[in-house]
Amino acid sequence: MGRILILNGSPRAPKSNSKRYAGLFMDCCKADYCDITKTNHRELCAKVGAYTDLVFAFPLYADGLPVTLLNFLKALEAEPPQQKPTVSVLINCGFLEYAQNHTAVEMMALFCKQNGWPFGSVLEIGSGEAILDTPFRFLAAGSIKKFAKSVKEGRYASFHTTMPLPKSLFLKASTAYWTEYGKKHNISKEQMQTMQIEQT
Ligand SMILES: Cc1cc2nc3c(=O)[nH]c(=O)nc-3n(C[C@H](O)[C@H](O)[C@H](O)COP(=O)(O)O)c2cc1C
Repeated sequence: MGRILILNGSPRAPKSNSKRYAGLFMDCCKADYCDITKTNHRELCAKVGAYTDLVFAFPLYADGLPVTLLNFLKALEAEPPQQKPTVSVLINCGFLEYAQNHTAVEMMALFCKQNGWPFGSVLEIGSGEAILDTPFRFLAAGSIKKFAKSVKEGRYASFHTTMPLPKSLFLKASTAYWTEYGKKHNISKEQMQTMQIEQT
């Protein structure tokens, strides 16, 4: 049986949604797990060759890959293992539409093509910030189960899920959630709509 390594490419990996999704994956099949950090690239590059499958779990950032993951891919390009595992992708985004993730998936597929890594399964999750804490959690868990089975069995395929809500309702609920969240941290909705939010 193959060996699976999950690498978390979220910039907030220890407290991330990606970590929760990786946890659900590990409920379905045995896998090792590591956060990608600024300082462990070489260690991870040396490790990945021991696995048959690599699963990158990460969020969509500005319609692309977060810099944590980009930097690691650069390191992997410079120090590839002799035996390259098959790369699968578990991506989640904040917006309702799972299709927002398509470009980032294509970026990963291009990295694999250009560097000779086999490309495996894909799971795209929409409403990824919210879905696990709603009654629709079962949809995410169900998709992860199918995704994990496909990786485990080497029968690679693409999956997707999101909350089955009208866009207007999702927007209303998410705006109310983030406004309340800001209030708890003494930040107004207007402050959140400025670039200065990055400094707070
Ligand atoms: C800087 C930043 C950029 C983001 N860009 C997008 C985006 O372009 N589209 C989207 O749907 N969600 C976007 N999101 C939302 C994240 O993808 C979402 O919150 C995700 O659940 C975070 O996952 P994580 O906890 O694993 O990091 C962004 C979040 C941040 C902080």
